Amino acid sequence: MTTRVPRIAPSEITPPQVYFNRRAFLTGALAAATGVALGRATAAVVPAAAGAPLPYTFDAAESVGALVHAPDQNEKPNTWYQITHFNNYYEFGTSKTDPAERAGRLQTRPWSITIAGEAEHTGTFALEDFLKPYALEERIYRFRCVEAWSMVIPWVGIPLRAVLDRLKLTSRAKYVAFESLYRPSEMPGQNVPILEWPYREGLRIDEAMNPLAFMVVGLYGRVLPNQNGAPLRLIVPWKYGFKGIKAIVRITLTETQPPTTWSLARPDYYGFYANVNPNVPTPGWSQESELRIGNPFFHQRQKTLMFNGYAREVAHLYKGMNLREYF
Ligand code: MTE
Repeated sequence: MTTRVPRIAPSEITPPQVYFNRRAFLTGALAAATGVALGRATAAVVPAAAGAPLPYTFDAAESVGALVHAPDQNEKPNTWYQITHFNNYYEFGTSKTDPAERAGRLQTRPWSITIAGEAEHTGTFALEDFLKPYALEERIYRFRCVEAWSMVIPWVGIPLRAVLDRLKLTSRAKYVAFESLYRPSEMPGQNVPILEWPYREGLRIDEAMNPLAFMVVGLYGRVLPNQNGAPLRLIVPWKYGFKGIKAIVRITLTETQPPTTWSLARPDYYGFYANVNPNVPTPGWSQESELRIGNPFFHQRQKTLMFNGYAREVAHLYKGMNLREYF
């Protein structure tokens, strides 16, 4: 990650005529495919050329989704194009456009997930079997990168808590560790030692059990594109985006705090907790404000909110902790 201020040129932003109404889309293709009656739908739009419909049940009526504490009127979701063409995914290169250009080569089927460590139900499962017990939900979350840009993204997935409940954790499970795929033949960035591969992340169990922590399989009601972390990624909306590990192949319940990629790479810059915190700068740049991607007023930054605006839901997790020390 660098300190460069990211910019999306107006020419890169998909014109409105490429999009069609999301409600029409939801009640049409997806509902027909799944047989699920859809309740609440957002005003978001999805391009006609977006990815395949999700093969799993998707019940928007179940969604607790909405943005909480929307600070202003500008909190409408970013476009499909912005979300899928401005990415961080070092397995495919270090530029923001590398993932969209190169991640298509990644084979995401078949895919299996290994569950290990302090749980009663461990083993390796096909992704389809792993997901089968859950109804998918839509969550529209703010996404704040530590590089000080942000988006609003309509994810589809399952609460991490539901997964952990089913795994029946032992009393020794204090943390959950995630590991990405290691496949240098399809992930060219892994041939370069820019990071320690595979990419790793982790959460404390009470963080993982918070209802906002989300395992994502879709975007805008469609299958998650490879560049965004298909077929399965994590989203923790009150933390910096790098906690949202992509292409997950392993989940391990541990007694001790697991090592995480960016805190291994730059422990002075990136901590294990990585909570969005406007009061704690990263060495070299401030976290007080952010650039919302797609904001037509490029220089108009907005104030960054404590815990990315989700303080009411998560502040209790850090009571008594010095957030400058545990950053
Ligand atoms: N996961 C893996 N496996 N590899 C990565 O390089 N980058 C992280 C995170 N997850 C990354 C990853 C960073 S730095 C960010 S900001 C987000 O993914 C970006 O997610 P997006 O591309 O969907 O916006």
